[in-house]
Amino acid sequence: MSPVSLLLLVLPLVSAQTYHWGPCPTPKVQPGFNLQQYLGRWYEIEKLPASFARGQCIEANYALRGDGTIRVLNSQFYKEKVRTAEGTAVVPDLREPAKLGVSFSYFTPYSPYWILTTDYSSVAVVYSCTDILHIFHVDYAWILGRSRFLPPQTVNYAKQLLVSEGINIFRMKATNQTGCKD
Ligand SMILES: *[C@@H]1O[C@H](CO)[C@@H](O)[C@H](O)[C@H]1NC(C)=O
Repeated sequence: MSPVSLLLLVLPLVSAQTYHWGPCPTPKVQPGFNLQQYLGRWYEIEKLPASFARGQCIEANYALRGDGTIRVLNSQFYKEKVRTAEGTAVVPDLREPAKLGVSFSYFTPYSPYWILTTDYSSVAVVYSCTDILHIFHVDYAWILGRSRFLPPQTVNYAKQLLVSEGINIFRMKATNQTGCKD
């Protein structure tokens, strides 16, 4: 099968995601990333659309497990219910501590989870990109906050950082964090 016909087969599968021609951008990540300080709860402020997180009140909680892996507990309010998903994050290469991998099932490979910047106490910018057939790439980006709402200047700063790293944020959307419990 030619690469183009293969591409036509896979495109519908990824149409809920954001895909672009060409290889993944290679953004800089947070220097000297400190995982310990990053643990805990983060609220999703804005993101590039992802089929697995369409709901409201989206948040993620990161905690160290005894085996050194990181437990990722995602939760969202979708279709009248709180839905949670537990995953695992790892640091595949200790020389690059800001480049995590996250997986939500034994059967799926780790997806990149790169912390481009964070101050640990208010905002984090996370990027994930996967090359497909060296023809195009699928990417996700998240602006996370330690609170459900961030000042617009902080959100703009995060977006400008993504843009300056060559990431297309045209489809970026705010996550609804109004009327959430707690
Ligand atoms: C956000 O969610 C609240 C509570 O479900 C709802 O009342 C509100 O209309 C939503 N806002 C938007 C912009 O969708």
